[in-house]
Amino acid sequence: MHAVGIVAAAGSGLRLGADVPKALVRLAGRPLVAWSVDALRAGGVDEVVVTVPSGCRDAFAAALPGDVRLAEGGASRTASVRAGIDAASPGADVVLVHDAARPLTPPDMVRRVLAALAAGHPAVVPVLPVVDTTVVVDDDGVITGAPPRSALRRVQTPQGFDRAVLASAYAALAADADLTDDAAVVRAAGVAVVTVAGDERAAKVTVAHDLALAEAQVGR
Ligand code: C5P
Repeated sequence: MHAVGIVAAAGSGLRLGADVPKALVRLAGRPLVAWSVDALRAGGVDEVVVTVPSGCRDAFAAALPGDVRLAEGGASRTASVRAGIDAASPGADVVLVHDAARPLTPPDMVRRVLAALAAGHPAVVPVLPVVDTTVVVDDDGVITGAPPRSALRRVQTPQGFDRAVLASAYAALAADADLTDDAAVVRAAGVAVVTVAGDERAAKVTVAHDLALAEAQVGR
């Protein structure tokens, strides 16, 4: 099985308050995207494509090993991943799509996703239980529903797919569609998505507090 990793790194980092793209923000002295690429490789991914913000190719090339392929991302995460799929070499039979903003993803979690793909599942996502009561609100913030917590999961990345399944799901998606993850893209094409255990250490760095937690995790 030849696995390509697509690291979505074309976000702006506005919520982090950074003056560089979020993926270039440093954790223990190294850009987040470098940590995320390492995590995929340590878990068994053979090649990596990173989608970068427009105009930032040189800065990302300087932050990453020379054998990482760079592709220009788009205005939405969905557009960025689409560009990454197009840039991946045709030899891969599975694709792992990962957020650059999950720098401390343990290699074991990557291996669990790859193992489920090797077992024949076409779409695999790592998930965690929901510990807070979770509600639905209307435009005024009034609660309109409270789904049973036992059936809810938080979805992480890397999300793994049979390459042909992911490519055809993206091909069938409207050009301007903007979904928050890739499982939603294949589900829209009618593909069943199985889950494996995620890991709290793979948390997404979104706001400054998340970066402080990640620094604590690596002992800085
Ligand atoms: O915005 P959010 O935190 O959900 O972004 C998840 C990942 O998608 C981040 O790693 C970000 O860099 C990436 N992204 C992207 N292209 C965009 C927006 C987000 O690659 N246009």
